[in-house]
Amino acid sequence: MTTSVFNNAVPTVLKAQLDSSLRMLVIHWTNTESSYFPYVWLRDNDPAGFHPDTKERQFDLTRINLDDDICDFALDQEHIRLSWLEESYTAEFSLAWLFANQPGKTVPDPALSDATLWRSDLTGGDIPRSNANDILTQDNALLTWLRDTQAYGLSIVDGLADDVKAGTQVAQKVGFLRETNFGVEFEVKSKPKPNNLAYTSIALPLHTDLTNQELPPGYQFLHCLTNDAEGGGSIFCDGFAVAEDLRRADIVAFDLLVNTQIPCRFHDEDYDIRSRKAVINLDDQGQVNEICFNPHLASTLDIAPELMHAYYRAYQTFMKMTKDPEYKVSVMLKGGEMVVFDNRRVLHGRDAFDPQSGARYLHGCYVDRGEFESRLRVLSK
Ligand code: OGA
Ligand code: ZN
Repeated sequence: MTTSVFNNAVPTVLKAQLDSSLRMLVIHWTNTESSYFPYVWLRDNDPAGFHPDTKERQFDLTRINLDDDICDFALDQEHIRLSWLEESYTAEFSLAWLFANQPGKTVPDPALSDATLWRSDLTGGDIPRSNANDILTQDNALLTWLRDTQAYGLSIVDGLADDVKAGTQVAQKVGFLRETNFGVEFEVKSKPKPNNLAYTSIALPLHTDLTNQELPPGYQFLHCLTNDAEGGGSIFCDGFAVAEDLRRADIVAFDLLVNTQIPCRFHDEDYDIRSRKAVINLDDQGQVNEICFNPHLASTLDIAPELMHAYYRAYQTFMKMTKDPEYKVSVMLKGGEMVVFDNRRVLHGRDAFDPQSGARYLHGCYVDRGEFESRLRVLSK
């Protein structure tokens, strides 16, 4: 075992040592933390193994012996140089980088934050609201709006021009638009021969869009150009809040909705797009991270007959919760407003409207979560 004492760097190293039995570099920092860096991890993360411009890894792991040892090191104020025995190779790391990237500790991600769950107590006035021109012209306003939209899964942008491209222009500040079989952008209005219930005037119960897709679209943007018809109010519900309440109230139903994949399908003359999806999806920490719920696109349930009744009970329980006023937030969109929501979290719907009484016309598009999170990271730098 080799040891050395070094003070006076930021972050300050109290002591570094090579632990030959653990086969790790151990750094004790003056703030009493200790970190453990396995030799093989250090070899794989050698800064020289990355392309200087693209920052992509070029190092080929198959070239090395995973059991090679680090036999020596040297410290200066900001760096540590490590030497491998068999390979006779030396790599230099910044201490600040090692401190920030300690194995076993999750590197903080500015794009990820805790969801603020809401129920019917979120009144229309509490929904985060931003001005389109501010978003388009000020990065700070764009960042604040993205953070709010992510936290609540829902926001309203106002002050949009009376132009079908105005909502899309705001969405493009976030990232690439997600194209689907309904196009890059879509018009929500009552149409003859509709291929989607949204393109009628009937009520749409709370749902998430395109559960039949391999990856349902992330954020949805619905720009209201005109809403003069009788009816046509928008409704929203935080699917994460429903799922968390279900977890507490009925764990059997919750587990069935997490563990059972059900078939979803959209088909018309040109497309037949199918997927299998669980209604509630969890991340690796067991946190709810996606709701996929669209009874219109749910295909014939093909699970084992003996599971059918229990599944229907769980599915109906979830569906009843989405209809419970406890969770519903209503908004009457006005021309020049756009509602933005995380389609993989927040369920949306609308009341029926009377197309004879006036026009109702929304223009929509999607931006996936990946693009949304990337913009958050870049603006947070
Ligand atoms: C949709 C939809 C809601 C509305 O287009 O997917 O649900 O308010 N529209 O018309
Ligand atoms: Zn929809």
